[in-house]
Amino acid sequence: MRFSSFAKVNLHLEVLQRRGDGFHELRTTFQTIDLADEIELTLERPATPGRPVVGLVVEGAPDLPADESNLAWRAAALFLARWGRSGEGVRIRLKKQIPIGGGLGGGSANAATVLLGLTALLRRGPGPLQLAEIAAELGSDVPFFLHGGTALGTGRGERIELLPDPSAPPLDLWLAVPPVAVATSAVFAAHRIAAAPPAAAAGSGAHRAPSAGTEPIRKLLAAAESGRAASLPAAWSSLLGRNDLEPTCLALYPAVRDVYNRLSESGAIAVRLSGSGSTIFALFADRAAGESVGARLGSETVWLPVQTLSRTEWRRRSGLDALSGGS
Ligand code: C5P
Repeated sequence: MRFSSFAKVNLHLEVLQRRGDGFHELRTTFQTIDLADEIELTLERPATPGRPVVGLVVEGAPDLPADESNLAWRAAALFLARWGRSGEGVRIRLKKQIPIGGGLGGGSANAATVLLGLTALLRRGPGPLQLAEIAAELGSDVPFFLHGGTALGTGRGERIELLPDPSAPPLDLWLAVPPVAVATSAVFAAHRIAAAPPAAAAGSGAHRAPSAGTEPIRKLLAAAESGRAASLPAAWSSLLGRNDLEPTCLALYPAVRDVYNRLSESGAIAVRLSGSGSTIFALFADRAAGESVGARLGSETVWLPVQTLSRTEWRRRSGLDALSGGS
């Protein structure tokens, strides 16, 4: 059975504080977009003797491991360990289209699709609460991908409050994916340094806040942008906030900063980092404006038009609705 595993952007991402467990308390608005990986699940009952219970083949991403470090593999193994029957196995074919390490949640989406797909295929498994718990065990973003659409994430991002589909047509976004994979943990770790009081940052260059030098630029850009954002439908402009991880990511990854600055100078209505990066999404007044900007970013940066995907459309297009009888 085939499923589509859709990516997200963060329309807003506020880092509230660092927690004792090393994670950061967030307030974020997730939004699915119509960029998807394809996942094919094939049940084996009984599993082929001598083969592992979970088999994973990855297409379209030679560098992505197809072993137990892959979130899709881990989701299947976790599911079968708890709800599988003796000898039951699953083959996963994962066709990657969502850029990896790009802040688009591809790996997390894959894990959620595997959990939902196995629940539907086996007609047994966790109830909604348990499903959310397992998803959170796999990663902070995974619970959101059980629902799609627009949702508020709090805690480390795993506590989800569904928001209604905006009462406005989908938003056209352009994704710029610079040629660098960002490590989420590195950005969050550096963000903690950036938030240290100035006295602690003074002295040794090694402890200087990584946002130094980018914050004033950001303020100027935000001011220019706020006027243009007025042209957005209210349903969307009220959801589009800021991303607190932007200064840190831009300071750590010059290739991301370069693309961000070019986009900000391009007359875009809004320019935002998604998650911890490296993907930046931009909104333009019309499609032609977006197309012409892409040509100026250089061939190494992927430039991709996408649209926001409502929860209704997400359900329909993911392939899950048909299996669950449309409920
Ligand atoms: O939960 P996930 O595996 O996606 O998180 C990856 C890393 O990102 C964590 O190990 C942590 O370093 C950082 N992170 C964080 N605060 C969050 C989410 C992630 O510090 N709310």
